[in-house]
Amino acid sequence: MSEQKYKGIIQKYRRFLPVSEETPVITLNEGNTPLIYAGYLSRLVGKNCEVYLKCEGLNPTGSFKDRGMTLAISKACEEKATAVMCASTGNTSASAAAYAAVAGIKCIVLIPSGAIALGKLSQALIHGAKVLAIKGNFDTALSMVKEITQAFPITLVNSLNPYRIQGQKTASFEICDYLGDAPDFQIMPVGNAGNITAYWKGYQEYQSQALSKKLPVMLGFQAQGSAPIVRNKPILNPETIATAIRIGNPASWKGATDARDESGGLIDMVSDTQILAAYKMLAEKEGVFAEPASAASIAGLLKLIKKGYFTPSTKHRKIRIVCILTGHGLKDPERAIKTIKPPKLMRADLKTIIKEIGY
Ligand code: F0G
Repeated sequence: MSEQKYKGIIQKYRRFLPVSEETPVITLNEGNTPLIYAGYLSRLVGKNCEVYLKCEGLNPTGSFKDRGMTLAISKACEEKATAVMCASTGNTSASAAAYAAVAGIKCIVLIPSGAIALGKLSQALIHGAKVLAIKGNFDTALSMVKEITQAFPITLVNSLNPYRIQGQKTASFEICDYLGDAPDFQIMPVGNAGNITAYWKGYQEYQSQALSKKLPVMLGFQAQGSAPIVRNKPILNPETIATAIRIGNPASWKGATDARDESGGLIDMVSDTQILAAYKMLAEKEGVFAEPASAASIAGLLKLIKKGYFTPSTKHRKIRIVCILTGHGLKDPERAIKTIKPPKLMRADLKTIIKEIGY
């Protein structure tokens, strides 16, 4: 088995997943993403602290969605589905479109018009999905998709589909396998709340099988203008520049609050200004380009550091913090260009260039 070449999360974690010999495996070799040590952030937290970045943007379609989508589409094929459908702030649609393309089945996506990043839209389109942009937000799109998939023979592949959560939990397994145990803290963005539900499930399963000793404290962050869980009520018109998590009524609300409460963690919020500062810092100091929603993890980390949340370890043991970077920065190049000054236009003259760069 260990001699086998890596072929995605279903092959790697088969015994933890609801698959059988009959399940066709639709894979793009997702998973196995790097967990990078973040030196700058570790020093900011303090002595005896290690911060790691789980770079989920390195999945085949550039986000964590591929872990859940490989299983959701494989199971849909096992059940002989001919079409799948999702509502999306962008990444789910990119992933669904790609996996449906490999499977040779139809993919339909509803997106909030004008509110998804260009990279994600281009992916859904190029993979051949039927993309419909509605004049409404993600929450409206999701309720429409729920109705349509109940009425017609189309499989829903949003995270309400339990196979999505099952697939996504494999990221926790990878973190435990790499670190030799679960981290002390895990920080992640929260939108529709499927991912925090999935990670918590993964950590619990690994611990119950004695493959890890501890459980992490789960720390989730929403964007301030889209923070229904923090405010304890749905938000009718969610707003944030982190369009991936521009969600006012998360489908897995209870999964998120259970993860928070059972782990002794918290779900808090960060402003767009804090998200953008973290986004820039991550790229400039750690060399990692993640999309704005992912930078909510880092903005959350910085907020907690400021509050003195991470007390130095007294037991001569390192505190390990894992921040989940859910999507690649290239998903939303427009945001990067808006955040930084555009390049200076120069004459093609050697002397002027040399002077400009300070030599
Ligand atoms: N980060 C990114 C990059 C996302 O695309 C999403 C969700 C999240 C975080 C939040 O994860 O919803 O499981 O809490 N994107 C969905 C989509 C909603 O349609 O692509 P969550």
